[in-house]
Amino acid sequence: MERCGAVVSSVLAVVLVLQLGLIRIMAQQEQQTGLAGKEVILSCKDTSHQRDSTCTWKYKYKEVSSTIISFSRSNIFKGKAPMTHRSELKSESKQLKVSDLRLDDAGIYTCACNSPAVSISLHVFKLTVSSNGHLLANEDLELTLMQNSSHSQPHLSIELFNISSKIVTTEILQNEAPQKYILKLKQLKATDSGTWMCHVYSNSPLINQNISFDVKVLGFGEERLEIMYTTVGDTVILSWHLNFRKIEWKEGFIGKLNWEPQGKAAIHELLDFNVTTRQELHKTKKSNHIWFEIPEKKTDSTIEVKIPKVQLNHSGRYQCQLEINSRRIWSMKALVVMQVSANPVGPLSRGGKMTLLCQVSGPLPSNAHLLWERVNGTEMEIKKSKQHEAKVEVNVSAPGLWNCHLMENNNTKISLNYTVEEAHVWNSYAVIGAIIGASVLVIGLACVCIITGMSWQRRRKRAKRIAQAKQYLLEKKTCQCQRRMYK
Ligand SMILES: *[C@@H]1O[C@H](CO)[C@@H](O)[C@H](O)[C@H]1NC(C)=O
Ligand SMILES: *[C@@H]1O[C@H](CO)[C@@H](O)[C@H](O)[C@H]1NC(C)=O
Ligand SMILES: *[C@@H]1O[C@H](CO)[C@@H](O)[C@H](O)[C@H]1NC(C)=O
Ligand SMILES: *[C@@H]1O[C@H](CO)[C@@H](O)[C@H](O)[C@H]1NC(C)=O
Ligand SMILES: *[C@@H]1O[C@H](CO)[C@@H](O)[C@H](O)[C@H]1NC(C)=O
Ligand SMILES: *[C@@H]1O[C@H](CO)[C@@H](O)[C@H](O)[C@H]1NC(C)=O
Ligand SMILES: *[C@@H]1O[C@H](CO)[C@@H](O)[C@H](O)[C@H]1NC(C)=O
Ligand SMILES: *[C@@H]1O[C@H](CO)[C@@H](O)[C@H](O)[C@H]1NC(C)=O
Ligand SMILES: *[C@@H]1O[C@H](CO)[C@@H](O)[C@H](O)[C@H]1NC(C)=O
Repeated sequence: MERCGAVVSSVLAVVLVLQLGLIRIMAQQEQQTGLAGKEVILSCKDTSHQRDSTCTWKYKYKEVSSTIISFSRSNIFKGKAPMTHRSELKSESKQLKVSDLRLDDAGIYTCACNSPAVSISLHVFKLTVSSNGHLLANEDLELTLMQNSSHSQPHLSIELFNISSKIVTTEILQNEAPQKYILKLKQLKATDSGTWMCHVYSNSPLINQNISFDVKVLGFGEERLEIMYTTVGDTVILSWHLNFRKIEWKEGFIGKLNWEPQGKAAIHELLDFNVTTRQELHKTKKSNHIWFEIPEKKTDSTIEVKIPKVQLNHSGRYQCQLEINSRRIWSMKALVVMQVSANPVGPLSRGGKMTLLCQVSGPLPSNAHLLWERVNGTEMEIKKSKQHEAKVEVNVSAPGLWNCHLMENNNTKISLNYTVEEAHVWNSYAVIGAIIGASVLVIGLACVCIITGMSWQRRRKRAKRIAQAKQYLLEKKTCQCQRRMYK
């Protein structure tokens, strides 16, 4: 038992001595990290302060050592180390600048003047991004992180921060750790474009390094499938916004817009387009369909189709797709058109019936339905379409204003009105009109009669008076003649 204890304590002592030695070595050695592709500046800590001393920067990996550069106040000699041609001396400060750093540049760098050498252990990280960070929407991104140093490499903890500096959870493959880690970011969106950050951390040796990388996700601003509702006769504009200008995408690509009419298997190509490396968008109208227009715009990054006076047969699926190096993405808009009609058309006669039909061009999603509603009239009435039915009918026997709503999650998306007019209401007005008209006519006629009658009577009276006067005059003459004869 005692012997065992002695062995343990002597082992402990050896470990302690070893550790102390290590700490002494570490104290002389600084730790610095560098990133592949970037530059690193190493400082020469010359303690001698002799003006004319000759200093030498050396590189060592495992046991192999070589000179990078050797210099005095008047001379510079280049060595044969692998990074010599990428190294530069800042003669005033004696700093060594190594540019375009490589994973192989990891190792011990020493700067020795007359005094004992000061060494720096350079730890190099290299982050590679799949497709150079250029993706199409919904594609996955793969990141590979590698490290190299002259010591055994530490196990790293890695975190990713998105463009909003929020931690993003990823799957980290550690099968080649600690030299190599592979991270996967799944289904990136157009809005993920920007500068991301990879944070690398280790406790011993202490590493706390941020590595930034750029991501460009080419795509459409909106969701992959959108349903648009409209009513017959309206003008509708279908548009797809491409983000190539915003993310400064420099590669050229092509694309097209297809239309699949509702209920038909055919696919019509409406237009095709291309985007040049100088970010110019060219569109070409493909079909001889005259029912749609392509609005022209300056500094355009939108694929747009305008349909004036929409008809039921314009409904269907409009798919915009783009293609680059045989990789493809698409975004679709389903156009649903609503129409109301009556059978029979025209005003409703007293005691008659008519059927009001409200229909949409295609099947409705499960969260949507149609609803007939009497807005105006004697009593409130409502009729809802059955689940998955694209139409709803009501039988109407009284006049009033009807409204058909397309509801999605209890919200009205679109509505159309239909006014049922009453035939007999219209007739009675006509009758009243006719009666008033006739009365006026009769009164008018009567007046004319009376007036003509009165004037006729007056004329007759005057004639009678004249006749009487003539008679009187005649009688008077006869009388005078008789008197003259008697004289
Ligand atoms: C690390 O650097 C050394 C020295 O340049 C090199 O021999 C080795 O291949 C590098 N390791 C990796 C994984 O690149
Ligand atoms: C960044 O990540 C957070 C959390 O994962 C997420 O909510 C946010 O939408 C992301 N930001 C962008 C611009 O993608
Ligand atoms: C690294 O980047 C993250 C995200 O931007 C930031 O929160 C963190 O403070 C940075 N760490 C260092 C050491 O720069
Ligand atoms: C792009 O479209 C324009 C106009 O249709 C055409 O002249 C040009 O050749 C196209 N460019 C490419 C690379 O397809
Ligand atoms: C839609 O139908 C009308 C007739 O109702 C027809 O004139 C028109 O060409 C059709 N439009 C399409 C795109 O088929
Ligand atoms: C409307 O009336 C017609 C004919 O009278 C009938 O066939 C139909 O089922 C009725 N519809 C409704 C919704 O009551
Ligand atoms: C609807 O109601 C208003 C007032 O409540 C009335 O003036 C109008 O005539 C009504 N319209 C129909 C079609 O019933
Ligand atoms: C719609 O409204 C009805 C009654 O107001 C309610 O019972 C139902 O839960 C609502 N549905 C949704 C999806 O909000
Ligand atoms: C339908 O009629 C109602 C009530 O008169 C009115 O408020 C609404 O604006 C009309 N809607 C349409 C689409 O004409």
